[in-house]
Amino acid sequence: MKTETMRWHGDRGGYLELIDQTRLPTEFVELKCRNVQSVWDAIKQLKVRGAPAIGIAAAYGVVLGVQEVPSDTTGLGFFAKLREVTGFLATSRPTAVNLFWALDRMTQTAEANKNCSVDQLKDILLTDAKLIHEEDRQMCHAIGSHGATLLLDGMGVLTHCNAGGLATAEYGTALSVFFTAQDLGKKIHVFVDETRPLLQGSRLTAWELKQRNVDATLICDSMAAQVMREGKVQAVITGADRIAANGDSANKIGTYGLACLAKSHQIPFYIAAPTTTFDLSIETGESIPIEERSSTEITHGFQCQTAPDGIDVYNPAFDVTPADLIDSIITEKGIIRPVDSKTIQSVLGLA
Ligand code: MRU
Repeated sequence: MKTETMRWHGDRGGYLELIDQTRLPTEFVELKCRNVQSVWDAIKQLKVRGAPAIGIAAAYGVVLGVQEVPSDTTGLGFFAKLREVTGFLATSRPTAVNLFWALDRMTQTAEANKNCSVDQLKDILLTDAKLIHEEDRQMCHAIGSHGATLLLDGMGVLTHCNAGGLATAEYGTALSVFFTAQDLGKKIHVFVDETRPLLQGSRLTAWELKQRNVDATLICDSMAAQVMREGKVQAVITGADRIAANGDSANKIGTYGLACLAKSHQIPFYIAAPTTTFDLSIETGESIPIEERSSTEITHGFQCQTAPDGIDVYNPAFDVTPADLIDSIITEKGIIRPVDSKTIQSVLGLA
């Protein structure tokens, strides 16, 4: 079975194919995106999701968006279209900074080559989208190598949402730590939060762990405290969607609660994320925009009504875990510990 999250087919006139993650785990369906609207829809509807994967898809979305620009268009015309396309893709989801990072990078790449012809610019943008894709693959493997040093043979670990291969180019961030530990011969047991309301844990993480034969147990989100109290968990590792300059980290709703639980059970709480997930332009998590999604995800999840008509609903898709609850952040450049702005600057090579 093919498990590449997404891949580009053909040259600059080609198309993007991605696994439709809303169909897993019961159906493995791939979706062909042939224009920018279909990429926007795929991101919005979580057919492609997870911060790094959203960034990669958006980069290919830019390539699709400028495909229709005629070869004899002026540079001014090309860059007007590029602005329109990146502006549109930026409206798909607000929290994962990888989306904006990828759109900025594609814009900068085009601007650095502004004297090239339209066809050359299209080729250059496709090359850069493929590079963003490949760099993410490498970052995930490096995160796994650094993170695996934190896990000991026989440990129980808990994760939330899906920070696996499906959320990235391949291999994942939090899950890459488990895969690498297992490859190194460390036996670990993963507790998987099902992750209400869209069940990325049970549908996607459990599926990925099964595919790679990692020992795993699925639990409802509300069971995490009990599992910790029973002494079954020695570490919690999740991904992130945006990390502020001080280390405050946004991730799937429920992550903050898990970090509080880990603290009260004296269990280390780790975030695994590539440097593309840091947003050093914001000082603290207070400024991270939190996506609010449709009430029907809670009242009518998976086509089943589970709440009375007319009930008021609040559905924030993410929360922010304060830096002081995070033991370490595992990046491709190394482990950030303690989590504060100074150590972040130093590990990211900015100090
Ligand atoms: O709403 P989603 O499924 O896109 O949320 C994804 C998460 O919260 C992941 O944990 C995060 O993006 C990290 S993925 C490596």
